[in-house]
Amino acid sequence: MTLSTAVRQTHRWVSVVFTLTVVANFAAMGLGEPPAWIPFLPLLPLALLQLSGMYLFVLPYVARRRDGPPTT
Ligand code: HEM
Repeated sequence: MTLSTAVRQTHRWVSVVFTLTVVANFAAMGLGEPPAWIPFLPLLPLALLQLSGMYLFVLPYVARRRDGPPTT
């Protein structure tokens, strides 16, 4: 597995974890005053998504540079 494939799959699965933490936030708030740490729960997966997402974003531009300018 290449690094870019690994980062893409990590991004995909962390996005599922992130979504679950957001759902947990709404559920906890529906049950009354949530514990103080609950709103912070999505921040770790969100930080991982930000880093892996920025990597995925620059991939096509780096690949184009490596290939050189178009010949036709
Ligand atoms: C926080 C900043 C984020 C950045 C900078 C970012 C950036 C990106 C980029 C550049 C791609 C690749 C698009 C492509 O060329 O195909 C991508 C794919 C994707 N992103 Fe994000 N993303 C972020 C957050 C999220 C969040 C919050 C979610 C969902 C909860 C998410 C879910 C996905 C999914 C499911 C894919 C497709 C992955 C695949 O190819 O299987 N991302 N993202």
